[in-house]
Amino acid sequence: MEKTIALIPGDGIGPDVVAEAVKVLDAVAKKYGHKWNYRDVIAGGAAIDKFGKPLPQEQLDICLSSDATLLGAVGGPKWDNVAPEIRPEKALLGLRGGMKVFANLRPAVMWPQLKDACPLKDEIVGNGLDILVVRELTGGIYFGERGTSADGKTAWDTEKYSWEEIERIVRLGFQFAQKRQKHLTVVDKANILNSSRLWRKVAEEVHKEYSDVTLDFLYIDNASMQLVRNPRQFDVIATSNMFGDILTDEASQITGSIGMLASASLGDGTGPGLYEPIHGTAPDIAGKDLANPLATILSAAMLLRYSFKLETEAKAIEDAVNAVLNAGWRTGDIAGSKLAEVKAQGKLVGTKKMGELVVEELNK
Ligand code: IPM
Ligand code: MG
Repeated sequence: MEKTIALIPGDGIGPDVVAEAVKVLDAVAKKYGHKWNYRDVIAGGAAIDKFGKPLPQEQLDICLSSDATLLGAVGGPKWDNVAPEIRPEKALLGLRGGMKVFANLRPAVMWPQLKDACPLKDEIVGNGLDILVVRELTGGIYFGERGTSADGKTAWDTEKYSWEEIERIVRLGFQFAQKRQKHLTVVDKANILNSSRLWRKVAEEVHKEYSDVTLDFLYIDNASMQLVRNPRQFDVIATSNMFGDILTDEASQITGSIGMLASASLGDGTGPGLYEPIHGTAPDIAGKDLANPLATILSAAMLLRYSFKLETEAKAIEDAVNAVLNAGWRTGDIAGSKLAEVKAQGKLVGTKKMGELVVEELNK
C-alpha cells in the first residue's frame, strides 16, 4: 500500500518523539511492503516563529490532502505572551476543526509491566486497567461563542451542543462498547447544565439501537472521583470536549505515565484522521533525548489501524512495544519507583534508544 502521511513535529519534545515514530513506521513499511510518503507540516509555536501564525491555511491543506496526520505536540512557555488568537494551541483547535475530526479516542490502558508506575494500590488496579474515552473534539466550550467585555472585567465561553454533535459521539461509544465489555458511561454535569441534559436525552435515544450495551451516567465530579476510587468499573466513557480533556489526563496517571497514552481523532471516515500522543511539549526535556516516544509510536499504530485498516501492522507495533517493556527497557517516566534498579541493570534508555528497540523488535 502507498500512502501519504503528514507529519507535524511541533514544539518541545514533539520533534524528538515524532522522529522515533517515523523510524517505526519505516520499519513497518519495509517489513510489510508498504510505502509512506511523508509531508512536513509546520504548526504551533514553530509556525508562529516562522509565519506569525500557528496554523497557516497551506499547512492545514497539506494535512487535508494527506491520508493521515501524525502530530507530536504544540505549545510552550516561549509563546505564553503572544495574543490569544495566535497561541500555539490554536493550531490544535484549527487542525481538529479544519480536519473535522470530531471524535477523539483515548485508550487508557495500564501495561502490566508498568504497574509500578501506577500510584494506585494493587487492590484497586487488580490486573490492569483498560478504559476507552471517546471525547467530543470539535464542539462545546472549546469552540463555542466567547468574549470579553469592553472594560476587560467580564469574560465568557459557551458550552453549546447540537443533537447531531452528541449523537455521533455516543453512537461511537456504543459501537466500541459492543466490541469490548458492553458498558458505556456518559459523563456530564446534568444536575446543572442544559447541554448535559441533552447529552443524556440523546444517549438514551441512541441506546435503543444498542440494547446489548449497559448505559449509565455519571456527573463529572463523581466520575473523576470514581476513576481513582474504582477505575475498573469503567469500560467506555463518552463525554464532552472539556470533560474529556480533564478526565483523560487523570486516566493517564492511573495507568502509570502520560508518556504511554496515544490518541486517534476521527471524523466521518471520508477525510484523514489525526493521531497524537495525549502528552504536551515538556519543554524542560526537549531535545535532551529524555522523552518517552512510546505514546507517539502507539499513535502511529492507531494511524495504521484506523486510517489504513492495517490491523496486522498496528498489532505488530503494539506487540513490539510490549516486548520492549517485557525486556525491562524503560525511559525515566515509566521507570517509576524502580528507577534505581532499572538504572543499575543498564535498562534506563533515552528517546532514540527506545525507538530503536521497538524497531529491533519489529525486525525480529
Ligand atoms: C489535549 C490538550 C489540548 C486540549 C490543549 C493543548 C489545547 O490538553 O489534547 O488534551 O485541551 O485539547
Ligand atoms: Mg489535555
